[in-house]
Amino acid sequence: MEEGGQGIGEDRDVNVLGFESSCDETGVALVQADSRAGIRAPDAPGPPPRLLAEALHSQAAMHEAYGGVVPELASRDHIRRVLPLARRVLASAGLELSAVDLVAYTRGPGLAGALLVGAGVAVALGAALGRPTLGIHHLEGHLLSPFLGSEPPQFPFVALLVSGGHTQLMRVDGVGRYALLGETIDDAAGEAFDKSAKLLELGYPGGPALAQLAEQGDERAFALPRPLLHSGDLDFSFAGLKTAVATQWRKLGLQPSPAARADLAASTQAAIVDVLVAKTLRSLRESGLDRLVVAGGVGANRRLRSALTAGAARQGAQVHFPPPALCTDNGAMIALAAAMRVQAGLDRGTQAGAFDVRPRWPLEELMTA
Ligand code: KG4
Ligand code: ZN
Repeated sequence: MEEGGQGIGEDRDVNVLGFESSCDETGVALVQADSRAGIRAPDAPGPPPRLLAEALHSQAAMHEAYGGVVPELASRDHIRRVLPLARRVLASAGLELSAVDLVAYTRGPGLAGALLVGAGVAVALGAALGRPTLGIHHLEGHLLSPFLGSEPPQFPFVALLVSGGHTQLMRVDGVGRYALLGETIDDAAGEAFDKSAKLLELGYPGGPALAQLAEQGDERAFALPRPLLHSGDLDFSFAGLKTAVATQWRKLGLQPSPAARADLAASTQAAIVDVLVAKTLRSLRESGLDRLVVAGGVGANRRLRSALTAGAARQGAQVHFPPPALCTDNGAMIALAAAMRVQAGLDRGTQAGAFDVRPRWPLEELMTA
């Protein structure tokens, strides 16, 4: 890159191709960023990168029969999908592979074999093109994804990260400047949705199905616990909720009426949302910040979106959501995070052919402040 003069350190737009393969979604996307590496402070406002094209394949239907993600099947399916998706992205952006300046991939956390597929393809492409590659933290991708929305946030803000594997409140002062405010001590919010959905025989991953069924139910029908609601801190606990849901479901007998099932779905959703909203509003008050960013798969939940928007407005705070399609795993957030790290001068990528993945990788390790 230094020798070729076509690297990412110059004053021009750069094209970042991103690969996501940490779990059961293969995502590829191309973003374009005005990038002068190192000249922009991590918290400086500037035009966020633009999404040029993206493609996604979800393996949910394949794993459904097993009631959860089967790691070996996930890896093999990523291998099948990743190059056709990349070709589709380049074609829809109208760009040749040679127009890619930086290749980004999810380095972790996630399933080791699945991560290796995206990382291997990205590093091989980088080597073939003579372009740098950059491994990205999956949660940083989620955290920054609202920058692809129609109303990108300004730093600093509080981020509520709610996915299948994580439930965290973070203070974000700039790219790479993250401080953990609170997190779940057991199950993640998405897990609470998915495990409750499984009990209600709604398949895998049941979060969206439970949310849909909840729209027809009465959320006051069942009194379910709101764990840690009054704990005085910013931590969450969802493991006890599924036990309460299981007890209620059993009480309904062998053939619960569709109305009772919808009521239990609505009551479960309300219990999860109530705790998420209460803690998030508390974190805004305690941090003195007036901007909230919601990211991760559960951020697509309509009940959560409306409750957070209303609650934040009452406190004079503004909420930013990623576009619903970018709440769940996707390649766009990986390309975006790479572009923003380059813009902030935190990374330039590497030309090394060797790479590793980090199936377990605490976000705290990324923090620069
Ligand atoms: O961020 P994500 O795609 O993957 C992880 O990194 O975990 O999040 C997936 C999680 C799953 O638990 C899924 O059930 C949940 O997000 N989810 C939802 C909704 N859409 C996705 N949960 C509740 N309501 C939804 N609409
Ligand atoms: Zn995710």
